[in-house]
Amino acid sequence: MSLSIGIHDLSFATAEFVLPHTALAGHNGTEIGKYHVGIGQESMSVPAADEDIVTLGAAAAAPIVARHGSDLIRTVVFATESSIDQAKSAGVYVHSLLGLPSATRVVELKQACYGATAALQFAVGLVHRDPAQQVLVVASDVSKYELDSPGEATQGAAAVAMLVGVDPALVRVEDPSGLFTADVMDFWRPNYRDAALVDGQESINAYLQAAEGVWKDYTEQGGHPLSEFAAFCYHQPFTKMAYKAHRHLLNYCGHGAGPDDIARAVGQTTAYNTVIGNSYTASVYLGLASLLDHADDLSGRPVGFLSYGSGSVAEFFAGTVVAGYRGHLRTQAHREAIARRRPVDYAGYRALHERSLPTDGGEHPTPEQTTGPFRLAGLSGHKRIYQRR
Ligand code: CAA
Repeated sequence: MSLSIGIHDLSFATAEFVLPHTALAGHNGTEIGKYHVGIGQESMSVPAADEDIVTLGAAAAAPIVARHGSDLIRTVVFATESSIDQAKSAGVYVHSLLGLPSATRVVELKQACYGATAALQFAVGLVHRDPAQQVLVVASDVSKYELDSPGEATQGAAAVAMLVGVDPALVRVEDPSGLFTADVMDFWRPNYRDAALVDGQESINAYLQAAEGVWKDYTEQGGHPLSEFAAFCYHQPFTKMAYKAHRHLLNYCGHGAGPDDIARAVGQTTAYNTVIGNSYTASVYLGLASLLDHADDLSGRPVGFLSYGSGSVAEFFAGTVVAGYRGHLRTQAHREAIARRRPVDYAGYRALHERSLPTDGGEHPTPEQTTGPFRLAGLSGHKRIYQRR
């Protein structure tokens, strides 16, 4: 008998501040329709000076540990493309901040925005090997482009934590997966750079090519027909991309692609991303949170996941929503995570964007800005010092 393995709990956190796109448009003179309609973004989360992928990741995961305890968690996989260290996993800081047992394996994974899906699939494999164990997957990213670049309007920051185990309460991860890899330079961030480099149109084309590639492989592996899915969670660098990708997939499969069909398939996955912005590897699972928190009962229905990471790697798989899932959602906490953000004006955002951490190895406390449960208190001798409140 095949085991039922998947997402048992899901929780997200986002940053302290929020910049409305009207403020960005006010600065650069862009017609606001381009942001609100053209790319489908209303605001972006902006991290405080004392926030980073670790504090966001810990804030996302803490409610999961509080609800389920840590006795069964034997592995933590931290997925990110905005890593803070070339050697040490950001997951080790999270493990420490959450007080997880020392008998835990912790590792960081990277492949642009695809990393969390690799983490989820590896977690499913680990649980297959020993169904008594659970895996904590933490996807955390800060999306940062150059000021006054086209990518600037698609920034954001968030972390999603998922507890993976047998008999999941939310979503069962199904076989098969459709896979695709191509060596393209659509988006990348060399080690010496803080902000990503991107070829905007090339990145959209690369995403759509990958969508074709994963769907072709998924079909060849014997997956569900497109018409069977209740909804589709796409990677959302900006929410309009989910609409573009779904239209592309429908056309590729020879289906009609009317605006209503597309909106029905992806509309409810975009509510959080449209106000948070790109959260890179967390984004597809922020889409899942949005879908589960907003849709009518999806019990027993398959949802399609299309995860894309520039460079590029993509995967398509189905997740079946488990009966009774609504009793396990964190809808209220998710709404509060968004509503509690403090608006920042353009000048304040710009100052945060231009800020970089000192590299001289001295003692550098960070300004106390975040009101979240964890903060980056400062740097000392090249070490990041974190605090739990
Ligand atoms: N009212 C309504 N719509 C308007 C408008 C207005 N006043 N003005 C423009 N638009 C529309 C345009 O017609 C266009 O729509 P379509 O794409 O449907 O044609 C849309 O707004 C965007 O306009 P442009 O293409 O002119 O915008 P741009 O040149 O500023 O670039 C971008 C947009 C390429 C997404 C840019 O923001 C960017 O480079 N972003 C970062 C890269 C990215 O997100 N790539 C996505 C795929 S890669 C990926 O997914 C991985 C990842 O996370 C990075």
